Amino acid sequence: MLKNLRETADWLKAKIPANTEIGVILGTGLGDLVKSIKVEKEIPYAEIPHFPVSTVQGHSGNLIVGQLGGKPILAMQGRFHFYEGYSMKEVTYPIRVMQLLGIRYLFVSNAAGGMNGSFEIGDIMLIDDHINLFPEHPLRGKNDEELGVRFPDMSEAYDRELRRRTTEIARRNNIKLQHGVYIGTQGPTFETPAEYNYFKIIGGDAVGMSTVPEVIVAHHGGLRTLAFSIITDLGVLGRIVEVTHEDVQKAAAEAQPKLAFLIEEVIKTL
Ligand code: HPA
Repeated sequence: MLKNLRETADWLKAKIPANTEIGVILGTGLGDLVKSIKVEKEIPYAEIPHFPVSTVQGHSGNLIVGQLGGKPILAMQGRFHFYEGYSMKEVTYPIRVMQLLGIRYLFVSNAAGGMNGSFEIGDIMLIDDHINLFPEHPLRGKNDEELGVRFPDMSEAYDRELRRRTTEIARRNNIKLQHGVYIGTQGPTFETPAEYNYFKIIGGDAVGMSTVPEVIVAHHGGLRTLAFSIITDLGVLGRIVEVTHEDVQKAAAEAQPKLAFLIEEVIKTL
């Protein structure tokens, strides 16, 4: 595993600026965030040694080398979901590569269903914390001490200072920003009304099929993480309607300029 990771990182090292410290994952329907990026290079995942390849509609599968907020960044256009059949090691492989490349900050976005009764479709939720309901843990198996400790603390998986700055930037710019707990589930089904209700009862504000594995591995590897959900549908009893992947993409697309602005402004403060 470490050998492959090193080969991937060495291959990429020659292609990205040495001072790149910011990684970004562009989630479902958020591929357009790339428009805010000054793109210098697009590297298809298929060309990267040992990299998994993305399959789902709406996920292009490129590593973008460029600048955002005046800083060099490495962005994933398309991520790997557990429901696609990837193992947890594959889902989180790019995060390990970022770690080996010296990335220090990770920005993550996703589309999610909202259980919180005060949420509206199109809201942006800053993830304060998560509940991991995936059936397999990304750190299961032999631990490599070079990558992180065996039993990682999770009391602040989402960086407190970055969250404080984000909240302040949203307030100053009149951007409505919700806060909450993200529940990560395996999918690929959306939730039944009873499941949305259960997720609300156990402390969730939004639910989705990604992010949690990547954030766990990022935190294990010492990356400071900031993550956002775009609320694309509601799992609020009495307001539940049928949801399709297209609805999710459309709602995400409408909210993304605001999210792009927030991410860019936070990056400027780094
Ligand atoms: N549930 C799970 N994942 C999702 C949802 C949802 O309601 N919306 C977007 N991704």
